Amino acid sequence: MKHFLNLSDLGKEGLLKVLDVADNLKATRGTPEAPQPLRGKQIALVFEKASTRTRLSLEVAVSELGAHPIVLTSTGSQLGRGEPMKDTARVLGRMVHGITLRTSDESRIKTMVEYSGVPVLNALTDQSHPMQLLADLMTVRRHFGQLENLSCAWIGDGNNMASSWIEAAGLLGFQLQLACPQGYEPDPVFLDQARSRGAKILVTTNPQEAVAGAHVISTDVFASMGQEGEAENRLKDFAGFQLNSQLLNHADSKAVVLHCLPAHRGEEIAEDVLEGPQSLVWDEAEARLHTSKSVLLWVFDQLPD
Ligand code: CP
Ligand code: NVA
Repeated sequence: MKHFLNLSDLGKEGLLKVLDVADNLKATRGTPEAPQPLRGKQIALVFEKASTRTRLSLEVAVSELGAHPIVLTSTGSQLGRGEPMKDTARVLGRMVHGITLRTSDESRIKTMVEYSGVPVLNALTDQSHPMQLLADLMTVRRHFGQLENLSCAWIGDGNNMASSWIEAAGLLGFQLQLACPQGYEPDPVFLDQARSRGAKILVTTNPQEAVAGAHVISTDVFASMGQEGEAENRLKDFAGFQLNSQLLNHADSKAVVLHCLPAHRGEEIAEDVLEGPQSLVWDEAEARLHTSKSVLLWVFDQLPD
């Protein structure tokens, strides 16, 4: 049985295949060739944190692949009243064929895997956001025609998104430079894993150094979900880490800008950059749909040859 807990579960070949299939699914959407190989399956989409894009893309993806999505949120289920994950997992496993889970600590995903007995997909944890990286890589590859020989930069918090960028760099071998304020460095576990795979990764506290010559520049909120109490302090600690046009001037002249969204304009990203000609954020958001379908097909061994 397959689970998609992190990008490494796909391996390099699987990751590239998922991106190829996502491109095909985009091209055939709404046509008679659009496949429905998940007909008859029930898929639970469990959200212990808020979501717009992930919920929307998964709900549409599951139903367009012929399966039935069932959304469970903390507030609308017994999870929010403290029912243990291992109990929820066993009940879900008796009724559905697959589960996507957005939660806080990754240990809760591991519990879901252990107790549900069905395929589980990571829809964001505090540690990683691999589904978003599939969409980011699809967007970048469609724009540049390749992922090799690219230099990518990450500006801001060494958070779940940064970890998944690091994992992608380790699998695919592109260059990655991260600029994070002191005390907000990326997870050393992801860094060590990627470096052991031969990835060239620079971690600096200087945003200009990170974006120098970069083709792709990504950022994310300074305070992630669950860190709302730190937001005020983080605003101070992240001074100088805004992705704005001055910083963009240090990148390659054809550089593109990504943001997983939601964005806080005027904090981690300037309005004119988010809305500007180098921003691919709406393509990136759309790519969530095609890559969600593709990774669901991978989990259920339904990827076309
Ligand atoms: N990018 C992303 O995961 O967005 P949501 O939090 O809206 O799902
Ligand atoms: N780092 C952000 C990503 C949101 C999609 C968070 O975890 O809130």
